[in-house]
Amino acid sequence: MSRSKRFAVLAERDINKETFVEPWPEAGLVVVDSPYDPHPSLRIVNGRVVELDGKPRDQFDAIDLFIADHGLDMSVAEQAMAMPSLELARMVVDIHVPREHIQRLAGGCTPAKLVEIVRHLNVLEMMMGLAKMRQRCAPANQAHVTNRRHHPALLAADAAEAALRGFAEIETTVGIARYAPFNALAILIGSQTGAGGVLTQCSVEESLGLQLALKGLTTYAETLSVYGTERAFVDGDDTPWSKAFLAAAYASRGIKIRFTSGTGSEALMGHAEGCSMLYLEARCLLVTRGAGSQGVQNGSISCIALPESLPGGVRAVLAENLLAAMLGLEVASGNDALASHSAIRKTAKLMLQLIPGTDFITSGYSAVPRRDNLFGGGNFDAEDFDDWTILQRDMQLDAGLRPVREEETLAVRRRAAQAVQAVFAELGFPPVTDEEVEAATIAHSSDDMPARDVAADLAAADRFLNSSITMLDIARALQQRGFSDIAANVLEMGRQRVAADYLQPAAIFDAQSDRPTETRRKGATYFRVRSAINDPNTYRGPGSGYRVEGRRWAEIQHVPQAQSPRDFIAGHIGQPLSVLREIGSARAGAHPEVVVAVGPAFGSALTRTINGLAHEEVLAAILTGIAKEGLYGRVVKVYHSSDLAAIGHAGARLSGSGIAVGLQSRGTAMIQKRGLAPLNNLELFPQSPSLTLHSYEQIGQNAARYAKGLAVTPVPVQVDNWARLRLIVKTALMHRRETEQVCDRPPVELWFDWEPDV
Ligand code: 5AD
Ligand code: CA
Repeated sequence: MSRSKRFAVLAERDINKETFVEPWPEAGLVVVDSPYDPHPSLRIVNGRVVELDGKPRDQFDAIDLFIADHGLDMSVAEQAMAMPSLELARMVVDIHVPREHIQRLAGGCTPAKLVEIVRHLNVLEMMMGLAKMRQRCAPANQAHVTNRRHHPALLAADAAEAALRGFAEIETTVGIARYAPFNALAILIGSQTGAGGVLTQCSVEESLGLQLALKGLTTYAETLSVYGTERAFVDGDDTPWSKAFLAAAYASRGIKIRFTSGTGSEALMGHAEGCSMLYLEARCLLVTRGAGSQGVQNGSISCIALPESLPGGVRAVLAENLLAAMLGLEVASGNDALASHSAIRKTAKLMLQLIPGTDFITSGYSAVPRRDNLFGGGNFDAEDFDDWTILQRDMQLDAGLRPVREEETLAVRRRAAQAVQAVFAELGFPPVTDEEVEAATIAHSSDDMPARDVAADLAAADRFLNSSITMLDIARALQQRGFSDIAANVLEMGRQRVAADYLQPAAIFDAQSDRPTETRRKGATYFRVRSAINDPNTYRGPGSGYRVEGRRWAEIQHVPQAQSPRDFIAGHIGQPLSVLREIGSARAGAHPEVVVAVGPAFGSALTRTINGLAHEEVLAAILTGIAKEGLYGRVVKVYHSSDLAAIGHAGARLSGSGIAVGLQSRGTAMIQKRGLAPLNNLELFPQSPSLTLHSYEQIGQNAARYAKGLAVTPVPVQVDNWARLRLIVKTALMHRRETEQVCDRPPVELWFDWEPDV
């Protein structure tokens, strides 16, 4: 077989680094519609579920039993199960059916019924459903802040920057478990430096995670993993009841929790039992709800590559986000783990959550470079911040971030690192030097950080964990060392734990800048809860729900990259050229000349082409080219149009030879011949940014050769495909300025004070 060069190039593309497989239901490698998935059914006798999805109670496994006894809203179950799934699916996208109504019905559905409902929806309908079913009014985002060296000053600086950038939650984790207390401490201090009220968590083994939370170092926990089969659960050393118990332990101390599940985990663990990924996820979600969790981190999470290897995988992942929202759960919707080598595929998948908006669009945006991300690298990293904020600006949507300026970012990073330095000093931990503070302030990654004494840090972290030091001591240390604002924020996080209003579904705290002014008294710190209870999603179609407008829209628009277009072409406006003088109206010539017809702003309202060539040099180059062929070049200025076709056409009509060079002030040029229609021509040079003085000279020379009736090879031009993209604003503004000079005047003769050097 001969090999296609095009296929060879395609084979090297990022998309072809991925694995694609055909479904294999027996291995659980199927996203929906496994032949082994049960059909929906529910039988209730005397208030007790005696049959669930085709299985009688005496055959229930642990998950069936937990769902039957705790996962279903019995007050609505029989009604919901009796409704056709297609009708329920249509209600999901019907703007006239409120979220609360669907949520209530979904609460009575069995796992197989839930799957049957969303099976009817395509991705667009699921996105519409998600926009309506999201719990909190406005979407938010979560950050990952870690680094390979567990550097406390860098962790604090990165957390401060993440908070400043608008993340409502920050998650850290460790490569070495003993570092966990310091990581939790560093991101607590950092987050409260960048923006008070940002929730933090440290993802570690469960009892250690609970210990850190009890010390007040973290305010939420998220990786309470649940699985859709009993054997996967047991392999994870858990049951639905043990997870419910753990959730209650957190809640009893005022700590927000969210479960984690997602398509693919059971197949990955070899315990899918032949069922589809989405069916098993529906079981997870009913366990999550039954255990009293206010929310879930789902969307496949760490397993994302597995559903993505299968047909319909990305749709199924969206379906699981939607199911969670339909069940009234806060959703942190994945997009955290590397989902594709291909930037196109990765971004396309993101749109399914970013456009509807979820409670947390990513379950962890890597706010550090990928190499420092101890969650296995991020799907979106610190290097992608600007892409993210520009997407928000492009679509006028809220994806949880705000654009920031370098100065303010450096300021919060420095202060966070200084605060960690102060707390370490106050509590007798290994010192953080001024050099480390400075390095953390400006660092890109942990490679930029000075080395620390690892053994001393780990020993101090052990002591810290086993000591009686809590967040109160941290707040006191900050206060004593002159960081009273950060101390107040840390203390307020503790107060909120006692109040515990943020245990409500989808709760985050308002960014500090949004605090009501009456509480902005000196020294007063106050975070307002925003949850599905006091700030619910009220989307009911056009004109309803959360809209990006007012201050938030102003903030999103105001990216540092945006320039005022008013002075954008300042560099192209100079003093009108003294070497170019108008000497009366232009007459038709009789000699074998070439007319150079310039636009109305040439040498006056504009003096440089788009790539900065001085108009007098461009004109000299063209005239030199003409002179090289022994002809005379006559310069005229066209006033009645700024359009190149009209300029060239007018020039050709005046030219003794019938040949003219048309030239706009931004540098776009053409060679025109009398008698040709204005939009036809001999040669056109539409890409003014690639034209050099040499090309203008060649244009002049070719024009003269046409005038002499010689054979002509067209002037070679470089094609820069990016020029239009890069320069379109400048082009528009230069053309606008040229057009402003247009007036009802016939062409005028120009005297160009120039000596040809041929
Ligand atoms: N199902 C359940 N738990 C998951 N996690 C990640 N993906 C899944 C999933 N699909 C949890 C695991 C992991 C942490 C990052 O999140 O506990 O350690
Ligand atoms: Ca997370």
